[in-house]
Amino acid sequence: MRSHLLNDTTAEQYRRSVTDGVERVAAKLAATERPFTGVTVDALAPRIDEIDLDQPLHDTTAVLDELEEVYLRDAIYFHHPRYLAHLNCPVVIPAVLGEAVLSAVNSSLDTWDQSAGGTLIERKLIDWTTARIGLGENADGVFTSGGTQSNLQALLLAREEAKTDTLAKLRIFASEVSHFSVKKSAKLLGLGQDAVVSIPVDHDKRMQTVALARELERCAEDGLVPMAVVATAGTTDFGSIDPLPEIAELCEQFTTWMHVDAAYGCGLLASLKHRDLINGIERADSVTVDYHKSFFQPVSSSAVLVRDAATLRHATYHAEYLNPRRMVQERIPNQVDKSLQTTRRFDALKLWMTLRTMGADGIGQLFDEVCALAREGWKLLAADPRFDVVVEPSLSTLVFRYIPANVTDPAEIDRANLYARKALFASGDAIVAGTKVGGRHYLKFTLLNPETQASDIAAVLDLIAGHAEQYLGESLDRAS
Ligand SMILES: Cc1ncc(COP(=O)(O)O)c(C=O)c1O
Repeated sequence: MRSHLLNDTTAEQYRRSVTDGVERVAAKLAATERPFTGVTVDALAPRIDEIDLDQPLHDTTAVLDELEEVYLRDAIYFHHPRYLAHLNCPVVIPAVLGEAVLSAVNSSLDTWDQSAGGTLIERKLIDWTTARIGLGENADGVFTSGGTQSNLQALLLAREEAKTDTLAKLRIFASEVSHFSVKKSAKLLGLGQDAVVSIPVDHDKRMQTVALARELERCAEDGLVPMAVVATAGTTDFGSIDPLPEIAELCEQFTTWMHVDAAYGCGLLASLKHRDLINGIERADSVTVDYHKSFFQPVSSSAVLVRDAATLRHATYHAEYLNPRRMVQERIPNQVDKSLQTTRRFDALKLWMTLRTMGADGIGQLFDEVCALAREGWKLLAADPRFDVVVEPSLSTLVFRYIPANVTDPAEIDRANLYARKALFASGDAIVAGTKVGGRHYLKFTLLNPETQASDIAAVLDLIAGHAEQYLGESLDRAS
């Protein structure tokens, strides 16, 4: 069994095994004709169920053959140009190389004595990101597992900085289309059920700052405490960017923590064309960035950044066995002092490899390309009488719905769109997402693949229309 341990004596086996795995994935990626095979849960589950985990195969080739059956064959492939669903990006090769290196060396970024250079690399990337945001000399931050955790940590710091001991009095203000992790965080942080005040959005799905001002005033009048305003720079559905400068003004006026959830919009930090869309982000107290959304990084890769490094002390706990207080005086950099996690992956290495290979401009160029593609897609949708499209994209999503020529019942139109999404998924020809707007079912393209062309968008729209029409035809037959 020791032959499976990665060490000085098994380097050759490591090389062979990993190369075999890479060969399989490379062959798969090259041969993938659709983003999905359309396999069903009922078809796949028995294949996985029948595997006896207490009966190992002992042989890498056999294990990879089995993996082909239970995973690789039917996985959802984000690199395919017709994967248009969620906020998943195709990944860049330097980052995948980083992933292979970081898991083999297996540094843990909690303490210097488990990582050494890894800690300094992460710190340099945090500094690089805070500089791009413009958070100033005292800024700091830490890599996290994702936007949900980054938002949670930011709001934890905001809660601790708030001027009250009564959790029930705390209020968080976020737009009605902000990410659900804000509400989840409020719950995890022990705030009251009404803690998150939903602020309406304008026609472009951006937070209405007049309404925000009114709610902040009401909060003060009611003797409540404004804990934080969460501005979203790139909402999940619409890619809309809340008016950051106006929100910053209000946060200053009401002495409130400003958190910017730029999980999606952070790609603009590298953009060569649209960086100005997030002007005002530099005034935030904390910022969430998801490199695994718009920096083309493999999951996970995210960070929470703060204007004032001292606020990270709210996440600090000194454990004698790990990071005793004296290490601070000794100037030993232990990232666990700033993190909600203890053992932590060296995800930063992926971004490091990316920046050292492609540079930030390389990433920005790719993100600019998908934003341009979304504009082309919007033009197609706006000119197509078969579809209703909700807003012009600021980033790279499109929310729309199929409108049949001779059906007026909104519930029937809902059903046709729901059916079209499901049927498309089952066919594996393309994958699109769905959401609700004004209580009605819509479809969504999230465009994060620069390989997707306007012709792919046009073809998928035709497929959607075809499936919706098929549903409506069968629905008529059922009725008659
Ligand atoms: C705006 C926004 N914030 C936060 C998140 C949560 O990020 P994660 O899925 O990395 O936890 C998302 C995910 O889509 C998001 O769109």
